[in-house]
Amino acid sequence: MIQFALLLLLSVLCIAAAENDHDKFIRQHVIDKMEEGDCTTEINRRNIKNKAGKCKEINTFILSNKSAIMAVCMKGEPYEVIVNKILTSMTKSTTKFSIIKCKLKNQKASPPKCQYVGTRGQRSIIIKCDKEGHPVHYQGDNSTTL
Ligand SMILES: *[C@@H]1O[C@H](CO)[C@@H](O)[C@H](O)[C@H]1NC(C)=O
Ligand SMILES: *[C@@H]1O[C@H](CO)[C@@H](O)[C@H](O)[C@H]1NC(C)=O
Repeated sequence: MIQFALLLLLSVLCIAAAENDHDKFIRQHVIDKMEEGDCTTEINRRNIKNKAGKCKEINTFILSNKSAIMAVCMKGEPYEVIVNKILTSMTKSTTKFSIIKCKLKNQKASPPKCQYVGTRGQRSIIIKCDKEGHPVHYQGDNSTTL
């Protein structure tokens, strides 16, 4: 009974907690399907902004699902990236994913007026996984941004 009460308390606490990095990753980067022309709608609908709360410069959507992305953490290959001058261990997918890279079109706009142009691609993706094997950060694909 006490265990049940604890479990209940724990779930309430979890629900009350702020969005974690994994949920944020899913919200910002994983979508079952979309077209290049859907960037503006999706980014605004999903409330995607940069850390300063302004229009995010680039946001990439992976056209896939949670389980396929989780599998990258298990089956991908180690990939080292320098982030803010620090060598960081990430994971690169051994399979290619359909991605849509959305680039900000109107530099001076503020949310929710950010407008995007999308480009489709087939790429290996580079992500950061936490200790539990959950993707928590999208670094890029292996053709760009590294
Ligand atoms: C998840 O996405 C992968 C490709 O990214 C696809 O092969 C797989 O069938 C999808 N699974 C489900 C349950 O939709
Ligand atoms: C990206 O990765 C794919 C598959 O892993 C590989 O075929 C391709 O040559 C790589 N491209 C670059 C620019 O590294």
